[in-house]
Amino acid sequence: MQSAGLPETARALVRAGRGILAIDESVGTCNARFAKLEIDESVEARRAYRELLIAAPGIEASVSGMILYDETIRQHTAAGVPFVDALRSRGMHAGIKVDTGTKRLPFTDAETITEGLDGLRDRLDAYRAMGATFAKWRAVFRITAGTPSPRAIRTNAHALARYAALCQECGIVPIVEPEVLGEGDHDLATSEDVTRRILAAVFDELALQGVVFEAMILKPNMVLPGSSARPISLDEIVAANLRVLRDTVPAAVPGIAFLSGGQDDRAATERLNAFNALGGEPRPWVLTFSFGRAIQQPALERWRGRPENVAAAQEILVRRALCNARAAEGRYDA
Ligand code: 13P
Repeated sequence: MQSAGLPETARALVRAGRGILAIDESVGTCNARFAKLEIDESVEARRAYRELLIAAPGIEASVSGMILYDETIRQHTAAGVPFVDALRSRGMHAGIKVDTGTKRLPFTDAETITEGLDGLRDRLDAYRAMGATFAKWRAVFRITAGTPSPRAIRTNAHALARYAALCQECGIVPIVEPEVLGEGDHDLATSEDVTRRILAAVFDELALQGVVFEAMILKPNMVLPGSSARPISLDEIVAANLRVLRDTVPAAVPGIAFLSGGQDDRAATERLNAFNALGGEPRPWVLTFSFGRAIQQPALERWRGRPENVAAAQEILVRRALCNARAAEGRYDA
């Protein structure tokens, strides 16, 4: 696994019937999810929870890699096995979130720029030495009457492309994640238009920075009406997603691994399945998952910080991962 070239690693991450599990919540985000369930907001609780996820028996049949956070990539199982080794020994890749979060972008209506380029080359070299084979950087966009602005789109696309180029130079496969948040009452056409403009800008910048498309993964939002808008048919959702991806994503990109973005976990699986089962004409890229909440949340709720719930929580986790792995092949049957 370690000696594979970048295109081989990228293809392995999206190989048939596999997807990525995102467990790279920052300390703050992880604590906020723990607080809602009255779980200890401690280093040890976060370590124990990540061990539950990483060591879940059988998850390697559905998951090609897990994205870790800086705290997590340095941690070990209770038996003293580094998390990276626990993943590698079961054929899974270790990934690392390398952006340092969002800051307010000047002269915009509360839009953000994702930071983390300063010193990134050295951090990538260090993560590579720890065994990371892929990385993630997330840009965030919000749909309102005046956003996202061309300024926010262009600056975030530029940062994503500089991150991706640095990753490839350092021997790491970049996951490029431009996320349009689902909150709002916008309709499907608005989500489609915004996602199209963002992906077009991102691939324009990726090309400018020399990023090799064969050696990256795209992690986009699904094109959906806003979470408080009127629901629409699955067929309309499938058509909108495939239209945007066909219009913007080069055929050389091996895989598109969607984020779940706070969707109901079953809805996320059904939609991924529909993209693969109902999509029509052949497509150049694999469509799979890089879900966080849509796989983890039911397991977290079952665990609640109690050691006696670990096995039951792992069973739920592995089941959700398997459902999504089937959906990645259009074989999910609720
Ligand atoms: P969700 O699937 O919970 O949106 O998380 C995926 C992710 O990695 C967000 O950056």
